[in-house]
Amino acid sequence: MHIKCILLFFCVFVKLSDNYKILAVFPMHSHSHYTLGFNLLEEMANRGHEISLISPYPLAKPLKNFRDISVASIKTAVEEIKKNLFRLEGGTPIDNFRYMSKMGRAFTELSLATEEVQHLLKSKEKFDLVFVEHFYNEAQFAFGHHFNAPVVLLSPMPSSILNNHLFANPAPPSYVHNLFAPFTQYMTLPQRIKNFYYNIAMTFYQYYDELPAQKKIMEKFFPTAPPFEEILYNSSIMLVNSHPSFSDPVPHMTNVIEIGGYHVPPVKKLPEDLQKFLDESKQGVVYFSMGSILRSHVLSKKKRDSLIKAFSKLKENVLWKFDVDVANLPPNVKILKWVPQNDVLAHPNIKVFVTHGGLLSTIETIYHGVPTIGIPVFSDQKFNIASSVKSGYAIKVPFEEMTEPNLTNALNEVLNNPKYRENAKRRSKIMHDQQVKPIDKAIYWIEYVIRHKGAPHLHSAALDLSWYQRHLIDFAVYSVLITITLIACLHQIFRLIISTKSKSIIESKKKK
Ligand SMILES: *[C@@H]1O[C@H](CO)[C@@H](O)[C@H](O)[C@H]1NC(C)=O
Ligand SMILES: *[C@@H]1O[C@H](CO)[C@@H](O)[C@H](O)[C@H]1NC(C)=O
Repeated sequence: MHIKCILLFFCVFVKLSDNYKILAVFPMHSHSHYTLGFNLLEEMANRGHEISLISPYPLAKPLKNFRDISVASIKTAVEEIKKNLFRLEGGTPIDNFRYMSKMGRAFTELSLATEEVQHLLKSKEKFDLVFVEHFYNEAQFAFGHHFNAPVVLLSPMPSSILNNHLFANPAPPSYVHNLFAPFTQYMTLPQRIKNFYYNIAMTFYQYYDELPAQKKIMEKFFPTAPPFEEILYNSSIMLVNSHPSFSDPVPHMTNVIEIGGYHVPPVKKLPEDLQKFLDESKQGVVYFSMGSILRSHVLSKKKRDSLIKAFSKLKENVLWKFDVDVANLPPNVKILKWVPQNDVLAHPNIKVFVTHGGLLSTIETIYHGVPTIGIPVFSDQKFNIASSVKSGYAIKVPFEEMTEPNLTNALNEVLNNPKYRENAKRRSKIMHDQQVKPIDKAIYWIEYVIRHKGAPHLHSAALDLSWYQRHLIDFAVYSVLITITLIACLHQIFRLIISTKSKSIIESKKKK
């Protein structure tokens, strides 16, 4: 009996600690999108799950429990498309949306067509879960149906017009700003009108262009799949890259889960020379990095000289991430081609981070409580920096205004006014004050969906209503009709009463 119990317990235990097989789909040819997937999947592999990752960035060295399904072959084709579509970037929010939608289609189709993915689709492999980065690639949700596994989505951004409709997640345009528009949650009337207009225009574009195109792609690559609409609205949950420490507090359905901050890995040891440089910078360090955007060919000589001049005036040292060496640098400036950003930001001597304001950099700087000077180039960077400025830990210097006096002013202000650092620290505290660490939360929810074989109990009834039912428009029409009928009836009744009264008055007069 005892042995039976122990055996049973052992079986249950072994079953519970089963490692799951997960197919992850991250087709975007963009390093930050890849990082958002990889940092989570690496941790899952460490915890014993078996990961197969479709992405254009195969691992440099093999990792336990980790298999690449490389679609690196799409890179050349994607570069070509990027060139043709580049002119759309920087236009209106709607142009931006269209641009990314066109890019997304290319990624979706090209990656599905690769030999590696075709090979996988023809295999008889089994997966417990399909984990898809959702970014204009709805056709790829069909991996879930193909492998008979529930689907979890990851949004690389906060919840937005792109994904709210998938879960009927409420986003009233009165206080939830369209993620592609340069507003905050506090909007004036003209802004709210614009916000509403952007939502409507993007929704139309989505329904009449983006989704039909994705539907075609799905039907081409998954010919036996059920109707696209069934696949589209059947994901179990969505993890979203947001948190009130760096994004607006907005409504979320139970199956839309905020995990912002999860991608920041534990701090690692710095290379020796870099550690020494930071330790010995007793006056502090200005860390300057514009990600992979600001390469030497973008930075004109004039701009480069103004940067160097502004840096040379500082008593602080400067760590500059740049892809080429620069001659005649002032003695307080060190250029490195590659910088372990997260580990550098964790160093106590870092006084300010001069950044392009990408979402990942913004999250990392809040994580470590470092104030910033934001030099935005593209659209989402502008919004991230606007939000950082509003939160009081950043100053914005537009790229076109990046002159020596402007930079010097901004640096002096952030370095000498303690308010920026205090606000950054305050935000950092908010990010760290959570019941569970964001990465544990993310992994918990992914395992939750596997344990329950999907999450139909989190499916909101709102998804099964038509748009006019969900917004009570049928009720409004009904109320208006009832009111009109009532008024008409009352009108008739009054007329009747008045006419009988006047008749009786006339008649009584006649009698007299
Ligand atoms: C929808 O998801 C559930 C749970 O993962 C699954 O059982 C079902 O087959 C899916 N339906 C379609 C049409 O893929
Ligand atoms: C940069 O300098 C110009 C000219 O002095 C000024 O008009 C502009 O407001 C400055 N911009 C910032 C962000 O300080």
